[in-house]
Amino acid sequence: MFGLNAAKKAAAVAAATAAAATTALLAAPTAVAAPQPIVGGTTTTTSAYPFVMQITDASQNQFCGGTLVSPTKVVTAAHCMVGETTSSVRVVGGRTYLNGTNGTVSRVSKIWTHPSYTDATNGDDMAVLTLSTSMPYTPATYVSSSQTSVYAAGTTARILGWGTTSAGGSSSNQLRTATVPTVSDSSCASSYGSDYVQSDMVCAGKTSGGVDTCQGDSGGPLLIGGVLAGITSWGEGCAQAGYPGVYTRLTTFSNLVTTQVNS
Ligand code: ARG
Repeated sequence: MFGLNAAKKAAAVAAATAAAATTALLAAPTAVAAPQPIVGGTTTTTSAYPFVMQITDASQNQFCGGTLVSPTKVVTAAHCMVGETTSSVRVVGGRTYLNGTNGTVSRVSKIWTHPSYTDATNGDDMAVLTLSTSMPYTPATYVSSSQTSVYAAGTTARILGWGTTSAGGSSSNQLRTATVPTVSDSSCASSYGSDYVQSDMVCAGKTSGGVDTCQGDSGGPLLIGGVLAGITSWGEGCAQAGYPGVYTRLTTFSNLVTTQVNS
Protein backbone atom coordinates (compact mmCIF):
# COMPACT_ATOMS: atom_id res chain seq x y z
CA MET A 1 0.00 0.00 0.00
CA PHE A 2 2.60 2.56 0.95
CA GLY A 3 4.88 0.83 -1.54
CA LEU A 4 2.44 1.74 -4.26
CA ASN A 5 2.29 5.33 -3.01
CA ALA A 6 6.07 5.47 -2.89
CA ALA A 7 6.23 4.19 -6.48
CA LYS A 8 3.66 6.73 -7.62
CA LYS A 9 5.54 9.50 -5.86
CA ALA A 10 8.82 8.41 -7.41
CA ALA A 11 7.29 8.38 -10.88
CA ALA A 12 5.77 11.82 -10.39
CA VAL A 13 9.05 13.42 -9.40
CA ALA A 14 11.49 11.13 -11.20
CA ALA A 15 14.29 13.62 -11.70
CA ALA A 16 14.25 14.99 -8.19
CA THR A 17 13.91 11.50 -6.74
CA ALA A 18 16.90 10.21 -8.65
CA ALA A 19 19.11 12.79 -6.98
CA ALA A 20 17.44 12.32 -3.59
CA ALA A 21 17.71 8.53 -3.83
CA THR A 22 21.46 8.74 -4.39
CA THR A 23 21.79 10.89 -1.29
CA ALA A 24 19.49 8.57 0.69
CA LEU A 25 21.47 5.49 -0.30
CA LEU A 26 24.75 7.10 0.67
CA ALA A 27 23.32 8.41 3.93
CA ALA A 28 21.41 5.26 4.91
CA PRO A 29 24.11 3.22 6.70
CA THR A 30 24.81 5.96 9.25
CA ALA A 31 21.42 7.71 9.32
CA VAL A 32 19.17 4.73 10.15
CA ALA A 33 18.55 4.29 13.88
CA ALA A 34 17.86 0.92 15.46
CA PRO A 35 14.34 0.13 14.21
CA GLN A 36 11.58 -0.23 16.77
CA PRO A 37 8.00 -1.17 15.94
CA ILE A 38 5.66 1.57 14.98
CA VAL A 39 9.05 3.08 14.25
CA GLY A 40 10.35 4.53 17.53
CA GLY A 41 7.61 3.41 19.89
CA THR A 42 7.08 1.39 23.06
CA THR A 43 4.96 -1.68 23.74
CA THR A 44 1.45 -1.33 25.08
CA THR A 45 -1.72 -3.41 25.43
CA THR A 46 -5.32 -3.46 24.32
CA SER A 47 -6.19 -3.19 28.03
CA ALA A 48 -4.61 0.28 27.97
CA TYR A 49 -6.24 1.12 24.60
CA PRO A 50 -9.35 -1.12 24.46
CA PHE A 51 -10.75 0.57 21.34
CA VAL A 52 -7.77 -0.43 19.17
CA MET A 53 -8.87 -3.23 16.83
CA GLN A 54 -6.97 -5.60 14.59
CA ILE A 55 -8.44 -5.80 11.09
CA THR A 56 -7.66 -9.29 9.85
CA ASP A 57 -8.39 -11.72 7.06
CA ALA A 58 -10.66 -14.73 7.61
CA SER A 59 -7.70 -16.61 9.15
CA GLN A 60 -7.19 -13.79 11.68
CA ASN A 61 -3.98 -12.54 10.09
CA GLN A 62 -3.81 -8.82 10.84
CA PHE A 63 -3.25 -6.42 7.93
CA CYS A 64 -4.61 -3.08 9.20
CA GLY A 65 -5.77 -1.33 12.36
CA GLY A 66 -9.13 0.14 13.25
CA THR A 67 -10.82 2.06 16.05
CA LEU A 68 -14.01 1.01 17.82
CA VAL A 69 -16.33 4.05 17.99
CA SER A 70 -19.49 2.23 19.14
CA PRO A 71 -20.07 -1.41 20.17
CA THR A 72 -20.65 -2.40 16.52
CA LYS A 73 -18.83 0.27 14.46
CA VAL A 74 -15.13 0.46 13.58
CA VAL A 75 -13.41 3.34 11.79
CA THR A 76 -10.56 2.35 9.47
CA ALA A 77 -8.90 3.49 6.24
CA ALA A 78 -10.63 3.06 2.88
CA HIS A 79 -7.37 1.79 1.36
CA CYS A 80 -7.47 -1.12 3.85
CA MET A 81 -10.77 -2.26 2.35
CA VAL A 82 -9.72 -2.35 -1.31
CA GLY A 83 -10.54 -5.82 -2.62
CA GLU A 84 -12.16 -6.87 0.66
CA THR A 85 -15.69 -8.14 1.14
CA THR A 86 -17.82 -8.73 4.24
CA SER A 87 -16.79 -12.39 4.10
CA SER A 88 -13.03 -11.76 3.74
CA VAL A 89 -12.59 -9.52 6.80
CA ARG A 90 -12.69 -9.98 10.57
CA VAL A 91 -12.29 -7.48 13.40
CA VAL A 92 -10.45 -8.64 16.51
CA GLY A 93 -10.67 -6.70 19.78
CA GLY A 94 -8.91 -7.24 23.08
CA ARG A 95 -5.92 -9.03 21.55
CA THR A 96 -2.58 -7.37 22.35
CA TYR A 97 -0.49 -9.94 20.46
CA LEU A 98 -0.82 -10.85 16.79
CA ASN A 99 -0.21 -14.49 17.66
CA GLY A 100 -2.79 -14.43 20.48
CA THR A 101 -6.06 -16.31 20.36
CA ASN A 102 -7.86 -14.31 23.06
CA GLY A 103 -10.19 -11.36 22.73
CA THR A 104 -13.33 -11.03 20.65
CA VAL A 105 -13.53 -11.89 16.95
CA SER A 106 -16.36 -10.43 14.91
CA ARG A 107 -17.50 -10.84 11.37
CA VAL A 108 -18.38 -7.74 9.39
CA SER A 109 -21.92 -7.27 8.10
CA LYS A 110 -21.26 -4.05 6.17
CA ILE A 111 -18.24 -2.23 4.74
CA TRP A 112 -18.98 1.43 4.10
CA THR A 113 -16.13 3.05 2.18
CA HIS A 114 -16.14 6.79 1.48
CA PRO A 115 -17.89 7.00 -1.92
CA SER A 116 -15.27 9.42 -3.33
CA TYR A 117 -12.24 7.33 -2.31
CA THR A 118 -9.82 6.51 -5.14
CA ASP A 119 -6.30 6.46 -3.61
CA ALA A 120 -4.91 7.44 -0.21
CA THR A 121 -2.99 10.34 -1.81
CA ASN A 122 -6.25 11.77 -3.16
CA GLY A 123 -7.93 11.94 0.27
CA ASP A 124 -11.26 10.47 1.47
CA ASP A 125 -9.28 7.61 3.04
CA MET A 126 -11.87 6.42 5.51
CA ALA A 127 -14.25 3.53 5.95
CA VAL A 128 -16.66 2.38 8.65
CA LEU A 129 -17.26 -1.31 9.32
CA THR A 130 -20.40 -2.65 10.94
CA LEU A 131 -19.76 -5.66 13.16
CA SER A 132 -21.98 -8.73 13.39
CA THR A 133 -21.02 -9.16 17.07
CA SER A 134 -20.80 -6.33 19.62
CA MET A 135 -17.37 -5.65 21.08
CA PRO A 136 -17.35 -5.64 24.91
CA TYR A 137 -14.76 -2.83 25.00
CA THR A 138 -15.03 0.88 25.68
CA PRO A 139 -15.24 2.72 22.34
CA ALA A 140 -13.13 5.79 21.57
CA THR A 141 -14.70 9.20 21.34
CA TYR A 142 -13.97 10.98 18.07
CA VAL A 143 -13.61 14.62 17.11
CA SER A 144 -16.64 16.60 16.02
CA SER A 145 -16.55 18.51 12.75
CA SER A 146 -16.04 21.84 14.54
CA GLN A 147 -12.93 20.79 16.48
CA THR A 148 -10.49 21.76 13.74
CA SER A 149 -8.14 23.49 16.18
CA VAL A 150 -7.00 20.14 17.61
CA TYR A 151 -4.53 19.88 14.72
CA ALA A 152 -2.58 23.05 15.62
CA ALA A 153 1.05 22.47 14.60
CA GLY A 154 3.16 20.95 17.36
CA THR A 155 0.27 19.32 19.23
CA THR A 156 1.19 15.91 20.65
CA ALA A 157 -0.61 13.05 18.95
CA ARG A 158 -0.53 9.36 19.79
CA ILE A 159 -0.21 6.62 17.18
CA LEU A 160 -0.87 2.90 17.74
CA GLY A 161 -0.49 -0.30 15.78
CA TRP A 162 1.10 -3.63 14.99
CA GLY A 163 2.84 -2.35 11.88
CA THR A 164 6.37 -2.88 10.68
CA THR A 165 9.36 -1.71 12.70
CA SER A 166 10.93 -0.06 9.66
CA ALA A 167 10.04 0.41 5.99
CA GLY A 168 10.14 -3.09 4.52
CA GLY A 169 10.63 -4.64 8.00
CA SER A 170 8.47 -7.07 9.97
CA SER A 171 5.33 -6.44 11.99
CA SER A 172 5.39 -6.19 15.77
CA ASN A 173 3.81 -9.13 17.58
CA GLN A 174 2.79 -6.77 20.40
CA LEU A 175 0.75 -3.58 20.01
CA ARG A 176 3.02 -0.52 19.99
CA THR A 177 2.48 3.17 20.55
CA ALA A 178 4.41 6.41 20.16
CA THR A 179 3.76 10.14 20.22
CA VAL A 180 4.49 12.52 17.37
CA PRO A 181 3.86 16.25 16.95
CA THR A 182 1.34 17.44 14.38
CA VAL A 183 2.89 19.28 11.43
CA SER A 184 1.56 22.46 9.81
CA ASP A 185 -0.24 22.29 6.47
CA SER A 186 2.41 24.45 4.81
CA SER A 187 5.21 22.21 6.01
CA CYS A 188 3.40 19.05 4.94
CA ALA A 189 2.60 20.57 1.56
CA SER A 190 6.30 21.29 1.06
CA SER A 191 7.07 17.64 1.81
CA TYR A 192 4.40 16.12 -0.38
CA GLY A 193 3.29 18.72 -2.92
CA SER A 194 -0.13 18.13 -4.44
CA ASP A 195 -0.43 14.67 -2.84
CA TYR A 196 -1.10 16.52 0.41
CA VAL A 197 -4.81 17.37 0.34
CA GLN A 198 -5.16 19.81 3.20
CA SER A 199 -8.93 19.43 3.64
CA ASP A 200 -8.71 15.66 4.02
CA MET A 201 -5.30 15.03 5.62
CA VAL A 202 -3.10 16.04 8.53
CA CYS A 203 0.57 15.24 9.00
CA ALA A 204 2.39 14.23 12.15
CA GLY A 205 6.02 13.41 12.77
CA LYS A 206 9.25 14.79 14.12
CA THR A 207 11.29 17.01 11.79
CA SER A 208 14.23 14.67 12.33
CA GLY A 209 12.13 11.56 11.60
CA GLY A 210 12.67 8.40 13.64
CA VAL A 211 9.11 8.03 14.95
CA ASP A 212 6.22 7.12 12.65
CA THR A 213 3.53 4.70 11.70
CA CYS A 214 4.54 2.19 9.03
CA GLN A 215 3.11 -0.60 6.89
CA GLY A 216 0.38 -2.48 8.75
CA ASP A 217 -0.49 0.47 10.98
CA SER A 218 -2.89 1.84 8.38
CA GLY A 219 -6.47 2.30 9.46
CA GLY A 220 -5.42 2.63 13.09
CA PRO A 221 -5.91 5.64 15.35
CA LEU A 222 -4.19 8.99 15.67
CA LEU A 223 -5.35 10.27 19.06
CA ILE A 224 -5.14 13.87 20.18
CA GLY A 225 -5.94 14.41 23.84
CA GLY A 226 -7.15 10.80 23.93
CA VAL A 227 -9.77 11.49 21.24
CA LEU A 228 -9.75 9.89 17.78
CA ALA A 229 -8.64 12.68 15.43
CA GLY A 230 -7.00 10.83 12.53
CA ILE A 231 -6.64 7.55 10.67
CA THR A 232 -3.22 6.21 9.63
CA SER A 233 -3.14 6.63 5.86
CA TRP A 234 0.18 7.01 4.01
CA GLY A 235 3.70 8.43 3.90
CA GLU A 236 6.92 8.36 1.90
CA GLY A 237 8.76 5.41 3.42
CA CYS A 238 8.53 5.42 7.22
CA ALA A 239 10.08 7.73 9.82
CA GLN A 240 12.19 9.57 7.26
CA ALA A 241 13.32 13.08 8.14
CA GLY A 242 11.24 15.58 6.15
CA TYR A 243 8.50 13.05 5.39
CA PRO A 244 5.97 12.90 8.23
CA GLY A 245 3.16 10.36 8.38
CA VAL A 246 -0.09 11.40 6.73
CA TYR A 247 -3.38 10.80 8.53
CA THR A 248 -6.99 11.25 7.50
CA ARG A 249 -8.22 14.54 8.99
CA LEU A 250 -11.18 13.18 10.88
CA THR A 251 -12.95 16.52 11.54
CA THR A 252 -13.70 16.59 7.80
CA PHE A 253 -15.37 13.18 7.99
CA SER A 254 -16.79 13.23 11.49
CA ASN A 255 -20.39 13.78 10.38
CA LEU A 256 -20.09 10.85 7.97
CA VAL A 257 -18.84 8.66 10.83
CA THR A 258 -21.83 9.70 12.92
CA THR A 259 -24.22 8.88 10.07
CA GLN A 260 -22.70 5.40 9.90
CA VAL A 261 -22.69 4.95 13.68
CA ASN A 262 -26.41 5.76 13.72
CA SER A 263 -27.29 3.67 10.66
N1 ARG B 1 -0.17 2.73 4.05
C1 ARG B 1 0.41 2.09 5.19
C2 ARG B 1 -0.43 0.89 5.58
O1 ARG B 1 -1.19 0.44 4.77
C3 ARG B 1 0.65 3.06 6.30
C4 ARG B 1 1.77 3.93 5.98
C5 ARG B 1 2.05 4.95 6.98
N2 ARG B 1 3.30 5.50 6.59
C6 ARG B 1 3.94 6.45 7.24
N3 ARG B 1 5.13 6.81 6.84
N4 ARG B 1 3.40 7.02 8.28
O2 ARG B 1 -0.25 0.29 6.61
